[in-house]
Amino acid sequence: MIRDLTDAEARAALPLKWELPDVVPAWVAEMDYAQAEPITEALVDAVRRGALGYPPHGDDLGAAFSGFAARHWGWDVPAEASVATGGVVSGIRLALEVLCPPGPVVVPMPCYPPFRHAVEVTGREVVPIELDPESDDASLDLCAVSRAFARGARTLLLCNPHNPLGHVPSRAELAGLAALAREYDARVITDEIHAPLVLAPLGAEERTFTPYLSLDDRAVLVTSPSKAFNMPATHGAQLVVLDPADRARLAAAPIPAQNTWSSLGIVAGTVAWRDCDDWLAALVERLTQQRTLLAELLADRLPKARMRPLEATYLAWLDLRAYGVDDPAEAALAHGVRLAPGQDYQPGLTGHVRLNLATSPERLERVVEGLRAALDDGGQGTPRG
Ligand SMILES: Cc1ncc(COP(=O)(O)O)c(C=O)c1O
Repeated sequence: MIRDLTDAEARAALPLKWELPDVVPAWVAEMDYAQAEPITEALVDAVRRGALGYPPHGDDLGAAFSGFAARHWGWDVPAEASVATGGVVSGIRLALEVLCPPGPVVVPMPCYPPFRHAVEVTGREVVPIELDPESDDASLDLCAVSRAFARGARTLLLCNPHNPLGHVPSRAELAGLAALAREYDARVITDEIHAPLVLAPLGAEERTFTPYLSLDDRAVLVTSPSKAFNMPATHGAQLVVLDPADRARLAAAPIPAQNTWSSLGIVAGTVAWRDCDDWLAALVERLTQQRTLLAELLADRLPKARMRPLEATYLAWLDLRAYGVDDPAEAALAHGVRLAPGQDYQPGLTGHVRLNLATSPERLERVVEGLRAALDDGGQGTPRG
């Protein structure tokens, strides 16, 4: 059911990811797989009908998302809580501007880089909470959050599940955050774009995804089916807010401050949330196999690499400091492999990369082999032959 794109198809379908000739891309978060057939059919049908006008205010995305949340997470969220927006990142910016007080914003690090940028473009200060790279535990440091709130921050950006750490926060961890948010009257903006991508359990303990909004009704959920269903350019994301007064504030934002969403994004997103469960189940199985393969390849070719337990997403976070190369992503590029540099996710953090494993087994092997060659030559960048 999951169809691998050939190199030529992937270059045409994912032009940003595949922009460099003769390079195997494992950087930006797009998958080298064809999208689900119901999405293709719905988009083709919409284009044939000429459905290219502005999308209506009351669209079907909210109801489709509610159905998905009930089926997958046993969570009852009203359809009318969803407010369409262009993308998750622009939705975060809108939530910061419209629903959050001015002032510092807590951002756990490493983080998806646009988190920091969204805070900065709204004229706010980032208060980083850095994970100790030595620590095995990727949970949120609630003591540090408490200190940041005590010093005056009233907003926190949560990534649930976490990109790039692959961590699925436990219910207890999120409940701890919710208790702090209540104590300090702070607002949590929770990006849950990766929520459908929780992989098979790694050990005895199953990590299930908990919607943060189910524990903290003042939070702002920002999500989109675009990541799990591999259609980031369709632009049909949503903010989910439970308080009607908050929704009214979002609706009242002037048009230049809003993020125009796309009628085709609404069509694709509605079908994704509603009609693609079988495809998603096959995808999660496939990504779980890719995770196993990556672990085997690393054990064989890069035994000193430390991969964080990848509980969710297809983005593996690798600690390669044992190889003594500051920028392994730059070194790998000289060997025909493009990875995402760790310092993009946490400025100053050397020796880390984020590796996108959502590709074919053959390409994944080429990625690990390129990285091995780069680290073996000490990052000297021996030109490719
Ligand atoms: C955590 C996270 N949020 C948001 C996005 C991007 O969302 P959008 O393209 O809708 O802005 C990504 C993309 O990889 C992501 O990993």
